[in-house]
Amino acid sequence: MKKVRVGIFGAGSIAQKRHIRETAENPNVELVAVCDIVKERAEQVAKQYGMKAYEDYKELLAKENIDAVIVCTPNYLHAPMSIYSLKAGKHVLCEKPMAISSLEAEEMIRTAKENGKFLMIGHNQRLMKPHVKAKEILESGKLGKILTFRTTFGHGGPESWSVAQSLKTWFFKKEEAFVGAMGDLGVHKADLIRWLIGEEISEVAAFVSTLDKKYDNGQLINVDDNATCILKTKSGIIGSLIASWTYKGGEDNGTIIYCEKGVLKIGYDPEFQVIVNYKDDTRDCYNVGGISTNLKQLNSGVSDLFIDCILNGREPEISGDEGLKALNIILACLESQEKSTVAKVKQ
Ligand SMILES: NC(=O)c1ccc[n+]([C@@H]2O[C@H](COP(=O)([O-])OP(=O)(O)OC[C@H]3O[C@@H](n4cnc5c(N)ncnc54)[C@H](O)[C@@H]3O)[C@@H](O)[C@H]2O)c1
Repeated sequence: MKKVRVGIFGAGSIAQKRHIRETAENPNVELVAVCDIVKERAEQVAKQYGMKAYEDYKELLAKENIDAVIVCTPNYLHAPMSIYSLKAGKHVLCEKPMAISSLEAEEMIRTAKENGKFLMIGHNQRLMKPHVKAKEILESGKLGKILTFRTTFGHGGPESWSVAQSLKTWFFKKEEAFVGAMGDLGVHKADLIRWLIGEEISEVAAFVSTLDKKYDNGQLINVDDNATCILKTKSGIIGSLIASWTYKGGEDNGTIIYCEKGVLKIGYDPEFQVIVNYKDDTRDCYNVGGISTNLKQLNSGVSDLFIDCILNGREPEISGDEGLKALNIILACLESQEKSTVAKVKQ
């Protein structure tokens, strides 16, 4: 079988810890080149994986014969890099949040269609085994109608994750990140919850604040470090979505779905990642494999899915349209905070 020739944009943490590692293990991939504005980082990663190193993604695209790119750079670069690559005839796997505005995201989707290329977004939560199991349980109908939910993603902040390993990370610069915990973690849960419950979120009410995270000079960072949001679906299911960078001393990546016939808990028990408590006090416990944490990255399956879609000519399930729906939820949360009002989610 012909190998998919891949280029990587950005050689930071998600590139090194997920996409390069996972594509390097995929027998159907040839890792061709990597670019990073930090030349030494690109060179070091390139050497480790037998790739060519570039500082400029446009030069990489001009000089290398590749089929696909994986965009692993700060948020503000997602749209320009993806659009440029799609126009150059490459399939694109872009990290989340897919863009910093819905206009940009729509242009990415349009460009993919116009050029007959795939655009996939790195919403890996739906591929995690506990979430796949939960979806199967919900779809079986044994819990009846979904009534309410809560979904949370919180940890101590990205400064110990980002390759910068400091408070100087781009995650804390509004002009590069556009949004803080809400865009980093909240968008994951926005994607997960609409996928799990199988309905679109139509309205939100949110508090999005900066409570605690400070730069070296003691000033609060200029993006949010906490967001607490209420979401409502078209059919009336209500629930909460929480994103935080100030959960010190442990990560919370859990979701609870409250249904007519019982409660589905995901990610709160180390042995049984999915537990169903029925209203007659019986329970089903499932050991299906863990949820990745910043410290312990499990295989995400994201790049394998992308490669599989390319090889089989199948539109990726986690498409640009899906990424846009998650992005629109967080944009509505920001609008709700800004205007102190309930905001409609653009559909
Ligand atoms: N899906 C997930 O679970 C997940 C997890 C973490 C990060 N991410 C996303 O991945 C993206 C990257 O995050 P990260 O954690 O790897 O950040 P990082 O800070 O560790 O790495 C970013 C890299 O991009 C490079 N870069 C910046 N500008 C560039 C340019 N113009 N050209 C080439 N390279 C450039 C930086 O030098 C750095 O090496 C972000 O959008 C983030 O939201 C996704």
